Amino acid sequence: MIDHNTIQRIIDTAEIVDVVSDFVSLKKRGVNYLGLCPFHNEKTPSFTVSAAKGIYKCFGCGKGGSAVNFIMEHEHLGYPDALKFLAKKYHIEIIEKELTTEELQQQNERDSLLVVTKFANTYFQEKLHKHSDGRAIGLSYFKERGFRDEIIEKFELGYSLDIRDAFSKAAIEKGYKLEFLEKAGFTIVKDDDKFDRFRARVMFPIHGLSGNVIGFGGRVLKKDEKTAKYLNSPESEIYHKSKVLYGMFQAKTAITQTDKCYLVEGYTDVISMHQSGIENVVASSGTSLTVDQIRLIKRFTPNVTIIYDGDAAGIKASIRGIDLVLEQGMNVRVLLLPENEDPDSFAKSHSASELLAFIQKNEEDFITFKTRLLSKDAKNDPVKKASLISDIVHSISVIPDGIIRTVYIKECSNILSIDEKVLYSEINKIRRKTAESETKKFSSPSEVYKTATTAVPSFVEGYSAEHQEREIIRLLLHYGDQILYSYQEDKFDEPRHVKVAEYVINEILNDDLEFKNLVYKQIFQEYLEGMGNDILPESKQFINHTDLEISNLAADLLSPSYTLSKIFKKGGILIETEEMKLKQIVPETIVAYKRKILEIAQQDSSEKLRIAQENKITDEELNTIQKEFMLITSAINAISKDRGWVVFR
Ligand code: CTP
Ligand code: MN
Repeated sequence: MIDHNTIQRIIDTAEIVDVVSDFVSLKKRGVNYLGLCPFHNEKTPSFTVSAAKGIYKCFGCGKGGSAVNFIMEHEHLGYPDALKFLAKKYHIEIIEKELTTEELQQQNERDSLLVVTKFANTYFQEKLHKHSDGRAIGLSYFKERGFRDEIIEKFELGYSLDIRDAFSKAAIEKGYKLEFLEKAGFTIVKDDDKFDRFRARVMFPIHGLSGNVIGFGGRVLKKDEKTAKYLNSPESEIYHKSKVLYGMFQAKTAITQTDKCYLVEGYTDVISMHQSGIENVVASSGTSLTVDQIRLIKRFTPNVTIIYDGDAAGIKASIRGIDLVLEQGMNVRVLLLPENEDPDSFAKSHSASELLAFIQKNEEDFITFKTRLLSKDAKNDPVKKASLISDIVHSISVIPDGIIRTVYIKECSNILSIDEKVLYSEINKIRRKTAESETKKFSSPSEVYKTATTAVPSFVEGYSAEHQEREIIRLLLHYGDQILYSYQEDKFDEPRHVKVAEYVINEILNDDLEFKNLVYKQIFQEYLEGMGNDILPESKQFINHTDLEISNLAADLLSPSYTLSKIFKKGGILIETEEMKLKQIVPETIVAYKRKILEIAQQDSSEKLRIAQENKITDEELNTIQKEFMLITSAINAISKDRGWVVFR
């Protein structure tokens, strides 16, 4: 942890114009500075920096904040790492706050592993370029594969010698501890014997998001059936293979710029595509794709195109990948290369523009992809056709956004000529089942779909509805623990009780909404955690909260004046308490919140539309904006009819 004074010094020193200028070319306009926004694509500058206020703000995409926020956003760093980034720029020495012995140990271990891994990276590169074996065997191998010098350097490729313990010896001589060499996976220790894990392999270093090398893949050069082609670093404190994507460090800027990420299978695919000039590409090397890897991509773009080999394994992997990407609310396209080609070979035999054109022409929507793939032999076979349909229906059912689901249902209905109603009912059935098994994790049962209000499209986010957020928090604090409704799935079942907090949390999570007021957000988070642990927080937890802002707010919202006005009629006669009307008030409050967000989004979208129409933009861009506007408008129409309450009594 960085101590408070140092943080203050960094913040005081990091002058916003200076910080931003490293990334954006700024021109002075009046008291402010103006430039092209680095966070979205624009032709006329709407990115403004105010030196006096120390903030940046883009009037195109709405991003804004302090110098630290800028670095967080631009470099995709967390708060502490952004501070460190700035400290480095201004040569401010960071004094880390004292950690507990346990934290210290963990921190030290991480650092030590990073240090030996960094050393290994330098070592392997040096062997590739300077050692006679490295040059004759490793470097010539890369050259034969068509890798050019600059790409070999960019990806920091290396070579491990064919000597039993060359690396371990060199590292120990340099003073690196055996303990860390072993933990980082470079040295294998057996009884008194120790030897290198990587031998006679070309080395592909794997970088973490901030550029540290965290592991390696090593490829054998001999065609030997006995050893695995690739050997990867083992799991360690710094390398969790299921959370890492090969090439992400080199690709992240291009992914943000193009708002798209290509997902390929291997190290060499990533490198060859880079060499062809396509840099927004990553690989899930050494594992089949995981949810964490998809979420990593989602931090940069919602658009993924999976490019795998056209062989059986590639097809299988793509199909699995499709649902994983859809489940995260992202858009997925698929491109299968001709059989016996992978992106690596394809990039080699085609020019960069041919490659890009091929991708753009052949990538397909997942429905078209699956239909084409599966319908070959399903045409005249009703059983096969049914299983094709249920396969596609399953993919659609995992999409979290209701409106996008609707769009796909239409498309699917067209392509396969099946009644939309049939598709709806199938999809709802699957979703209900999944929802049930998921909500079972929570303490008391809650049934999402019976109560779900109109969905807010997933691209609508980042809007602040201060008043409505506050109202929701007020309800949570007052009534979070109360049962909102009970129901029986089956008359033989025990009744299930759904508490106010669960209903509220599910509604908000289902639509991927997030409170913008940080104090409300924190309170919401604590309810969420409580629900996950089966103990909902009590309101006094917030009144006595260590965070002063939270305790003040809680005291304020829980003070009697807040509820009294609602439960007395003008004459002061008690008619009905708020508590008695929760069934109505709680869902109405949720609907009001969602509607507010949609309304702001609509204004924003119509403003975008106006700007778009005034400026020259492509039809495709205009189309996207219009489509968004339409989706928002239809969601508002739906929500206006929605009283939040659907089925149960
Ligand atoms: N892989 C692995 N271990 C193996 C085989 C493969 O970890 N024994 C991973 C590697 O990350 C590899 C990816 O799976 O890059 C794809 O495998 P493959 O297509 O066989 O390798 P390529 O990257 O195409 O390698 P090359 O072209 O050098 O054969
Ligand atoms: Mn290959």
